[in-house]
Amino acid sequence: MTIELVTTTPIEGQKPGTSGLRKKTKVFEGRHYLENYVQATFNGIGGVEGKTLVVGGDGRYFNDAAIQVILRMAAANGAACCVVGQGGLLSTPAASHLIRKRGADGGLILSASHNPGGPDADFGLKYNGSNGGPATQIVTDKIYERTKSILEYRIQTADDVDLSTVGVTRLGNLVVEVVDPVSDYAELMSHLFDFPKIRSLFSSGFTMRFDAMHAVTGPYAIKILEEILGAPKGTVINGQPAPDFGGGHPDPNPTWAKGLMDEMHSDHSPDFGAASDGDGDRNMIVGRGAYVTPSDSLALLAAKAHLAPAYANGLVGIARSMPTSGAVDRVAEKLGIECHETPTGWKYFGNLLDAGKVTLCGEESAGTGSDHVREKDGLWAVLLWLNILAETRVSVSELMDDLWRDFGRCFYSRHDYEDVNAEQANAMMEALRAQLPEMTGRKINGLDVIYADEFAYDDPVDGSHSSGQGIRIGFSGGGRAVFRLSGTGTVGATIRLYLERFETDAALFDMAVEDALSPITGAALALSDLHKFTNKIAPDVIT
Ligand code: G6P
Ligand code: ZN
Repeated sequence: MTIELVTTTPIEGQKPGTSGLRKKTKVFEGRHYLENYVQATFNGIGGVEGKTLVVGGDGRYFNDAAIQVILRMAAANGAACCVVGQGGLLSTPAASHLIRKRGADGGLILSASHNPGGPDADFGLKYNGSNGGPATQIVTDKIYERTKSILEYRIQTADDVDLSTVGVTRLGNLVVEVVDPVSDYAELMSHLFDFPKIRSLFSSGFTMRFDAMHAVTGPYAIKILEEILGAPKGTVINGQPAPDFGGGHPDPNPTWAKGLMDEMHSDHSPDFGAASDGDGDRNMIVGRGAYVTPSDSLALLAAKAHLAPAYANGLVGIARSMPTSGAVDRVAEKLGIECHETPTGWKYFGNLLDAGKVTLCGEESAGTGSDHVREKDGLWAVLLWLNILAETRVSVSELMDDLWRDFGRCFYSRHDYEDVNAEQANAMMEALRAQLPEMTGRKINGLDVIYADEFAYDDPVDGSHSSGQGIRIGFSGGGRAVFRLSGTGTVGATIRLYLERFETDAALFDMAVEDALSPITGAALALSDLHKFTNKIAPDVIT
């Protein structure tokens, strides 16, 4: 075995986005593409000599081949050890846990999350630090800088490492430890939640459907829900991970998990429904006939987390991304704890969690998590819901009705305009930005604009400043519209329009979400001229 020093040149566009580098699979398969990015990552973090790295991914097409390249490059760069999930699999939260549990220096997670997989679909790679969380902006900037100046990379010539069996092997001087991807994670969950109580919930006849969407959580959910907690076989559907996610779109929302939604709204609906995404960090919660928005789910979990053993002493603080609804803010206020507002992207929660400022975090994009790892965690959210249901023994819709009665209801919806020409999307944002100084005080569609600004964030821990994080417009009566460009897409631009209305009149809680939001939607469309800029008359996806 020899170490090769390969001459290369910088490849344009290797800038990590909201969650690492995400591109079309074919781009990643291109000459030197993966290698350049891996070497830039190693260089950007100060080298990997003598370091231990956790490596695993969501099992999508190219996962296995990419892991072999990463291992050969880690060996050639002098890493001491790589801990790899068996079969190359590790859910994102399980990888985060493994980094922390092993005291590893960091990890490489291969995933494009909820984006489809396959040779013509998407692939992604991100670096997580020793706290188990996504690299901070400071680190991703360093990696990006290295992608722009890279001239060579190091790779070991070697045969593929057998990742199919648990055990220790070597690749040159690198120790490769293949571990069961599920067991450490399952053990962590058993410490956080009251497993005997959840088991007795299932044995009392409580029914559940968990849609793993042919993605990485299948083996985790089967092990924890069916084998450990005694849920009947068949509780987990689509539980076999597939490189193309069964041809589906592994994004747990009412659009892409339509089968589950239909079942939950049918006459023979189970008591509880849930789903997770490609890499297992997102979750969807749905009761019998009752979809719970991620923002509402965060508020409910904040209000009831004390019912689970890990949170019995209460929460230190809460954080939510800016576009997430203000529902959780009202819960935090009542609990007398801090509520932080961060830009979109889990990486912004890491410092707050490390500094012990928050216990619970959540995003409108179906991410919820806590200080148990440094990633959002789909199955964790489902288990916390189960723990709450096991304690209260009431239905999901009763829990939500109680929450709204106590705190008011935040009607909420996100409209996505996908595959928009990037220039047009930027032009729309620019035009909105130009209006900001004069927007406050304007009356539009019967609503008064009471504030309008572009969100920026100063990290209270490392002092970093992140600007341009979304345009927000507040209306009289507690309504809000937010405009943002997605940072995770791989084709053109996606405009996200987040709509919210706060209502305290219980007589209005049953309104259809679309109707409740329509004055705000109308005002947002009028202010932005979104339809004109995008040549679209309606959003592609509504969640
Ligand atoms: C990923 C990140 C999340 C983020 C989401 C949406 O899942 O981990 O933290 O909220 O992407 O990002 P986008 O930029 O597409 O709105
Ligand atoms: Zn994900």
